[in-house]
Amino acid sequence: MAIETIIFPDAEQAAQQVAKKIQQLIQRKPDAVLGLATGGTPLLLYRELIRMHAEEGLSFAQVRTFNLDEYEGLPPDHPESYWSFMQRNLFDHIDISPGNYHLPSGMLAADAVTEHCEAYENAIRAAGGIDFQILGIGRNGHIGFNEPGSTISSRTRRVTLCEVTRADAAPAFGSIEQVPTHAISMGCATILEAQEIVLLAFGEHKAEIVAQAVCGEVSENVTASYLQTHQHIHFYLDSAAARDLRDSM
Ligand code: GLP
Repeated sequence: MAIETIIFPDAEQAAQQVAKKIQQLIQRKPDAVLGLATGGTPLLLYRELIRMHAEEGLSFAQVRTFNLDEYEGLPPDHPESYWSFMQRNLFDHIDISPGNYHLPSGMLAADAVTEHCEAYENAIRAAGGIDFQILGIGRNGHIGFNEPGSTISSRTRRVTLCEVTRADAAPAFGSIEQVPTHAISMGCATILEAQEIVLLAFGEHKAEIVAQAVCGEVSENVTASYLQTHQHIHFYLDSAAARDLRDSM
């Protein structure tokens, strides 16, 4: 299977199209299960979903969501936790019910990690699996926090963050020393079980890694390349992120 790439003039238009897909899914299946991502990339998508809720009556009352990952050692109310990111950028502004959204916990005792990760996988399964998974991509090709070396069969687990990932997060935290060294992340196999996946990537700094993910060999060096094995995978790109793709396609 090949990855379908759709190139938009700008990030706003790409985000609007993905929001429309989610709107149609929720209209078809009001209790749809969404897999959600953090980072700068999905912000425009979340803004558009909030607008659809406010202006078009799109209701998330029955929607269930599972986030990809959470930093280890950050309490939910820490401004850089993915929990607070999701509250601030989406959940506070829509009618999702607090019992219906899920993120891995970053505050686990060492001996509670395995059980928590298994429970997260089980909760996804009990919800009927993820209907629609949103992804961003790290500069080293990671999806969620599945850093290079993560296997295609990996499941939700504790992961060690790469230097490049921590360096990219440093501005938000103030310094690289303040960026957590570990996280809990859904695995690659967990992500690949979603019915449909949309990866968003915007900007020239993503161009090289997007081309590797789409056209390179399927390899643990670029975990986004595993997406080539999925049946319903689309990359929504702005023209800057698609730069190296045009050369190689
Ligand atoms: C973090 C997140 C990823 C995200 C990536 C890219 O590593 N765990 O899910 O895709 O950042 O972030 P950005 O969208 O800010 O480029």
